[in-house]
Parts: sequence; C-alpha cells; structure tokens
Amino acid sequence: MYKSACLLVIALFGVVYAVPSQYDAEQTWVAGNLSYPLPSNALIGGLDPYGYKLYVGRVNFSGTIVPVRVVAETGIASGSTEIVPFTTRTYQLLTTNDNMDYEWIRSYDGILEENAVSVGTTAWNERVFICRVKTDGGVIIGSLFLTKKACLLQALSYFYIQSFDKYEVLVAHPKNNGTYYY
Ligand SMILES: *[C@@H]1O[C@H](CO)[C@@H](O)[C@H](O)[C@H]1NC(C)=O
Ligand SMILES: *[C@@H]1O[C@H](CO)[C@@H](O)[C@H](O)[C@H]1NC(C)=O
Ligand SMILES: *[C@@H]1O[C@H](CO)[C@@H](O)[C@H](O)[C@H]1NC(C)=O
Repeated sequence: MYKSACLLVIALFGVVYAVPSQYDAEQTWVAGNLSYPLPSNALIGGLDPYGYKLYVGRVNFSGTIVPVRVVAETGIASGSTEIVPFTTRTYQLLTTNDNMDYEWIRSYDGILEENAVSVGTTAWNERVFICRVKTDGGVIIGSLFLTKKACLLQALSYFYIQSFDKYEVLVAHPKNNGTYYY
C-alpha cells in the first residue's frame, strides 16, 4: 500500500516536470506590480549601482519562465531568456518562508546545486534557476540555464545579454533548529 502510494507520488512529479512553460511550485510567489503593496517578506537579492534594492521576481516571457530583478520603487522588472533581454511591469515576487533558510552560494559552469531555487521551465522544458553576479558596481540577478553553463543577465545600461560562467546561485533549505538527526 505504502509502496504504491510512493510510486504514485513519483508518477505525479514526473508529470509535473514533463510540462514546459510551467511555474515551479516549491516556493511562494506573489503577484506584483506598482499598485500592489510590497510584501514584507519579499526576498532582496541584489543592489544596483543607483542605490536601489533588487528583489527576486519571475516572469513568463513567451512561454519561458525566467527570474527578473525588480526595483520596487519603479515597478520595473528586467530579465533575460537565453536569447532575449526584456523589461516588464507585471511579475511575481519571491517571498520567504519562516521555516526556510535562503542563501547565495558560489558556483560555476552550470553545475546543479542542491536545493537550488527554480522559477519554472522553459518552452523546451529546461528548469531555470536564479543566479546573481557582482558586476558594473552592483549585484545583479540573472537566469541560470544549466545547458548554457552560465548566468545570463540583462546588462544595466544597454539592452543586451551578459553571460558569466562564475556566479552565485540561490538555494533554500529547511532551517536547522539546533536538533541533529543521525
Ligand atoms: C496591477 O495589477 C492589477 C490586477 O491585475 C491591476 O488592476 C492594476 O491596474 C495593475 N497596476 C499596474 C500599475 O499595472
Ligand atoms: C506561459 O506563457 C505561455 C504562452 O506564452 C503559455 O502557453 C503558458 O501556459 C504560460 N505558463 C504559465 C504557467 O502561465
Ligand atoms: C523549526 O522551527 C520552526 C519554528 O518554530 C518550526 O515551525 C519548524 O517545524 C521547525 N523545523 C524542524 C525541522 O524542526
């Protein structure tokens, strides 16, 4: 009985991950634009050189779910697919869960890090993760495509894609309450 329940769960997950252009449901994301109040637990992931905090957001851009960096004061979200940099004013914001720890860890070359936070899938059904890079006087959030082996981000001052093979990845893991299980 238990075994078949497990198999069923695996089968369901298999179906979920086989769907392209799908939002990942592991984290809590809330709709955002300039009219919505900023959630107090929205995750800040970067800083631009003009002194604005960059919140972690996501967008469905033509069927590719990608991270965006959001400036809450202007309601402008910027991001990049594998081929197109874009800006939009409608997005979802990543909010933190009290039982989880969020951490940026150094990584490179498209390695899949344990507990990496995914935003969802591309139209080609590749999972997309959240990365950031220290560049141009800021800490800028971008899209990690494992197959590209790089963090792609929309350049700050011009409308083009910058690619970095060394970057940080956002990971989320359950909080350690001081109890260790062996
Ligand atoms: C934000 O979204 C809501 C709901 O879709 C909409 O009513 C509102 O006009 C939007 N505001 C902006 C600034 O886009
Ligand atoms: C994302 O957008 C595409 C169309 O561009 C649509 O087919 C797909 O269902 C959307 N995905 C989600 C999760 O809204
Ligand atoms: C850790 O503490 C939080 C808050 O008290 C609790 O909700 C959560 O279940 C705890 N997690 C574990 C693994 O014990």
